[in-house]
Amino acid sequence: MYFNKIQNPPNFAFIPPHGLKKNRATLPGHKIVLRTADLGEDVFEISYESPAWEYRSHSGLDLNAFKSPSRAELQIAPHGGFAIRSGRSNLLATLPQEAFGVCGQSWMVQFAPESGQQFYGMGEKNNGFEKSGVRTKFWNTDVWADFHADAFINGTTDPMYLSVPYLIIKKGNTYLGLLVDNPHAVYMGISPQVSIGGEQLKTELRQPFFIGSSDGTARMYVIVGPTLHDLTCKFQRLVGVTPRPPLWSLGYQQCRWGYQSYQCLDNLDKNFSKHGIPCDGLWLDIDYMRGYRVFTFEQKHFSAPSAQIARIQKRGRKVVPIIDPGVKIDPGYHVYDSGLKSKAYCKTPAGKDFVGFVWPGATVFPDFASPKARAWWVGQVAQFASGSGIQGAWLDMNDPAVGASELDPMLFNGGKWDHSSYHNQYALGMAMASREGFLKAHPDKRPFLLSRSGFTGMSKYAAIWTGDNFSNDHHLKNAVPMSLNLALSGIPFNGPDAGGFGGHTTAELMIAWFKMQFLFPFFRNHTHQGCRAQEPWAFGTKTLGILREYIRLRYKLLPYLYNLYIRHEQTGEAILRPLIYDFEDTGKLPLGHVGDQFMAGPAIMQAPVLSSSSDAREVTLPEAHWFSCLDAKWIRGGRKLRVKQKARTTPLYFREGGIVPMQVGARKDQKNDLGKIELHIFLRKDSKGTATCRYIFDDGESFQYRKGGESEYFIEAKVSSGKLQVKVDKLRANCGALEVSFVLYDGFKTIVVNGVDPQVHPLTLKKGVHEFAGSKLPVWTTAPLRF
Ligand code: NOJ
Repeated sequence: MYFNKIQNPPNFAFIPPHGLKKNRATLPGHKIVLRTADLGEDVFEISYESPAWEYRSHSGLDLNAFKSPSRAELQIAPHGGFAIRSGRSNLLATLPQEAFGVCGQSWMVQFAPESGQQFYGMGEKNNGFEKSGVRTKFWNTDVWADFHADAFINGTTDPMYLSVPYLIIKKGNTYLGLLVDNPHAVYMGISPQVSIGGEQLKTELRQPFFIGSSDGTARMYVIVGPTLHDLTCKFQRLVGVTPRPPLWSLGYQQCRWGYQSYQCLDNLDKNFSKHGIPCDGLWLDIDYMRGYRVFTFEQKHFSAPSAQIARIQKRGRKVVPIIDPGVKIDPGYHVYDSGLKSKAYCKTPAGKDFVGFVWPGATVFPDFASPKARAWWVGQVAQFASGSGIQGAWLDMNDPAVGASELDPMLFNGGKWDHSSYHNQYALGMAMASREGFLKAHPDKRPFLLSRSGFTGMSKYAAIWTGDNFSNDHHLKNAVPMSLNLALSGIPFNGPDAGGFGGHTTAELMIAWFKMQFLFPFFRNHTHQGCRAQEPWAFGTKTLGILREYIRLRYKLLPYLYNLYIRHEQTGEAILRPLIYDFEDTGKLPLGHVGDQFMAGPAIMQAPVLSSSSDAREVTLPEAHWFSCLDAKWIRGGRKLRVKQKARTTPLYFREGGIVPMQVGARKDQKNDLGKIELHIFLRKDSKGTATCRYIFDDGESFQYRKGGESEYFIEAKVSSGKLQVKVDKLRANCGALEVSFVLYDGFKTIVVNGVDPQVHPLTLKKGVHEFAGSKLPVWTTAPLRF
């Protein structure tokens, strides 16, 4: 498998002009039948089928349907191409000639480029925010094993661990999504420039863009937004949303390759308490196992695993162990033996168990494509989770990583499926079965799984970390665009290893990294064995103070962050998102290339300084008024500005019209009280619109919320005759009442809550200073009220 080469259109035979008759066409080796379906809400399915592709033809994704009728229209052309039209405009069209073609088992669809088009999505890629000119393959790799060190150190590897063959096409402020639903290696060429030996060949400026796959039915879904917000919600509903995670998984997580024993956990726990740093998760890497045998504990590291894990968890931190799919070949080892008995391992063409190499040496691999093998894995996970008391796990090496062994002989589904037809879905199968195992062990606890590899729809089962990065500025810079495109590709719960995994980090890099990542959906510090200590206290007092500040800030903002996840589950809305998600792209202030800033939900914008040696950057402030934490005052948007941060500050902005629920006071530990909050209302005395917020809280860990076990409030605020009017509607309080104090960012004299006249019920506003993100913000605060 070449990672860096993709199919070339001249090598394909395309359906000729008028070659499609009654939706049928003949191409070398293929009798094509074109089937289309309008799934409603401007979601269309288009598939070119051929008997030659009957084998493992689509990815078997559990896709959801839509109910309301479409407004856009799908038109099929006589040369086998198609167009999506809305009213009079063409939203997307294949080339007027050479639209659909084949080359052996491969197929390709070519699209007509239009000026001004921009491209996004593609899941986990190292190739920047906007994708024009990219040629790329979708094939899960074990990055450090499959690429040269220069590439992974400099962050140029492609493909990476996770494949989501999904392309977003932007034209003006209209967005379309194109999902390839195919289990084999998919490729995309986005009007690529061609080069030989590094020399650019002169090609026509506007090349077509094309998508295709090495085998299997050419099935795709075209989704019309029209906005990026609508598109993301529809796409998430098509492939499935991330279920409400346990609250602890949103907290800070501490990991290191080398944490292996109860002593390590105990030591970490004590240090976090000593330094007043909240931390929800303590992670165990491979050395906790007995000789790297999955589902075991090394006796000398854990003399009584379940009691010792219970002891740590009682102190309020979860223990999260790594689980690798590779099972050591070791007759007498109960997991290996029981898998053998259940015929649970991948086969070779000769019907033997496929053997690769992972940490324990020669290993066999669970066949997640086989329902019987999955059931076996579910049982192993359930037993491990209930025996040890863990409520989450870290799924690694599931690309699958098999060491120096060639992958082709690794067959799936009892030897019936060839490797390439399931390779990209191996981690998805592992995540599905692992989640089921946790649910079996703890039916009323929301499990948390973190996976390295994945595929379309993965976020229903697991969050993603972006694999083995490096402690350098390349990876710091890559992290924001990668996370944003993952979010747009249906994987909202993601984040890189904070501080960098490979190489020795520095205090400066740690600070830059924590300032960047403290609002990311997933926030885990992790590093390679042998690298310098990377815990927040390992860099001296000054750095400790800054890292602690940003961890505490995350906990301060936890009610807001948690509600972004709740909203995501309800609607598919993205959590971290680019500026084009919330704002119009205009000629005056183009936003399509801004991939180094992000919105965390609708109300907070962050423009981190993505360098360990600089303290300044240019910030694009979309049209709005913003409360700037750097300047501790309101500033006008609709422009670019040069900003400079201090040691403890970061360019962080609240959008006018936002209401941000926060916890009370500085958070020194991970004990959260979501029923007792501050509501920070970002309105000025001359603000015009209404600010709204739906605030939900629950027990943070069970599934009771699905049966109404939550409290829900709708808050509305507006300025009228210089007074701030606030309405708090209690929709239900099944998890208790809400205690709120209001925090205002302008010198309002009075605040009227639920129509109570302040003359009768004076609500005193106390002027004060809110210490936030290293700044002192002037605020006006009320005493707490109960609703
Ligand atoms: C590879 C993973 O990507 C990394 O995070 C982990 O520390 C090592 N495997 C060892 O388990």
